[in-house]
Amino acid sequence: MDTPIADFLKSYSEKNGVRLHMPGHKGRIDIPAQYDITEIDGADFLFSPKGIIAKSEENAAVLFNTEKTLYSTEGSSLCIKTMAALLKKVGINKILSARNSHVSFINACALLDIEVCWLYPEGEVLDISGGEYTAKYIDKALDATDCGAVYLTSPDYLGNMLDIPAISAVCKKHCAYLLIDNAHGSYLKFIKNDNHPITLGADMCCDSAHKTLPVLTSGAYLHISKDTCPRFAELSKSVMSVFATTSPSYLIMASLDIANSYLAKKKECFIAAEKKIKSLKYMIASLGFADISKEPFKITVDTARSGISSEKLLDCFEKSGITAEYADDNAVVLMFSTMNTDEDLDKVYDSFKSAERFMSKARGKSFKLKITPPYKKMSIKDAFFSDSEEVPIENALGRICSVSKTVCPPCVPIIVSGEVFDENSLKILKRYGIFTVSVVK
Ligand SMILES: Cc1ncc(COP(=O)(O)O)c(C=O)c1O
Repeated sequence: MDTPIADFLKSYSEKNGVRLHMPGHKGRIDIPAQYDITEIDGADFLFSPKGIIAKSEENAAVLFNTEKTLYSTEGSSLCIKTMAALLKKVGINKILSARNSHVSFINACALLDIEVCWLYPEGEVLDISGGEYTAKYIDKALDATDCGAVYLTSPDYLGNMLDIPAISAVCKKHCAYLLIDNAHGSYLKFIKNDNHPITLGADMCCDSAHKTLPVLTSGAYLHISKDTCPRFAELSKSVMSVFATTSPSYLIMASLDIANSYLAKKKECFIAAEKKIKSLKYMIASLGFADISKEPFKITVDTARSGISSEKLLDCFEKSGITAEYADDNAVVLMFSTMNTDEDLDKVYDSFKSAERFMSKARGKSFKLKITPPYKKMSIKDAFFSDSEEVPIENALGRICSVSKTVCPPCVPIIVSGEVFDENSLKILKRYGIFTVSVVK
């Protein structure tokens, strides 16, 4: 029998290229298969920890200065469902959320029958995962609704970051909890100015440690602030267990545990990486590339504004053995971590330099989207659990969406269960190459 996955992985790792994609370890950690065990005597239980796991999670809580930090071996996706369920446990059934939320949040709302008041980005956006959401805008939205919590993504997939201190102040004024999807930003705790959502005033947040730290894929944290409702910490383990596997990976837990020691000892690696990536950002901007990321460890090239096609830029990267996190017609996303070496960064600069000759003087205009609120006819839960059928998008106009349609990555919805397909949503679906959708029968 052939082994197509293993063959692909072998050949990719033998290339020994520059990884500017997740996971943050960049292929440079070593966790042996001998560490892959189950809950044998002494190995503790992730969902009722009293021994080694409890101690390791306490270490992480000290590093992130939280009331409680829980490990997830199933990514931020598990932490997001847990945060939504914790809100429900304290009686919150309505959440104000930015539209660029990850699909796991929508899945949680479908399962838990939570109502969402969506915030849409003002103006046009480069991608459905983008959008600016200001404190003033959120203040107005909270005035107009009776939502008990606000759920936002910062940083987003393209590297935009929200003003969390100002948004937190607004949430406190309205007695609303602030939950942040910080999947892309675990490292923000360890750079020069601690920019982590919990430090900046969030009540809870999820971090995909695996995206930006030296942690195996799916290793993540759910952080609970010292300044929030004590019930969240008390209930968190039992609530998380409802959505989780009963066989959490010890390899992933080991990588989270080893990362604690790295984070405690290597603050200077984060500060050095921040400085080096800042200088790389400056150098590629001097070549004329438009980097729209506000994130210290991410470069997002707006290719139209840079006067080059994504295809050409990727060609240049490929010649230097560089693999990007993501690319579409509008943008190329590069994700860095402390595990990228100086040589990696030099290769990235050389590659941008080699792409310079393909840049057109006449800068293009990015293709932007206007995301408008579709009419909502059913609750997320009712539409999701209704009998449904898959239809071509030409036949979807006026029909109710059953299963939310997302594009992955960034796994952000174009249309959510219960909403009615309109001309704009169909146009966006086509733009992302989606030609069939699930509708309520
Ligand atoms: C913004 C955002 N939130 C949440 C997630 C889910 O994270 P995980 O893969 O750790 O479950 C992702 C994954 O890509 C993401 O980009």
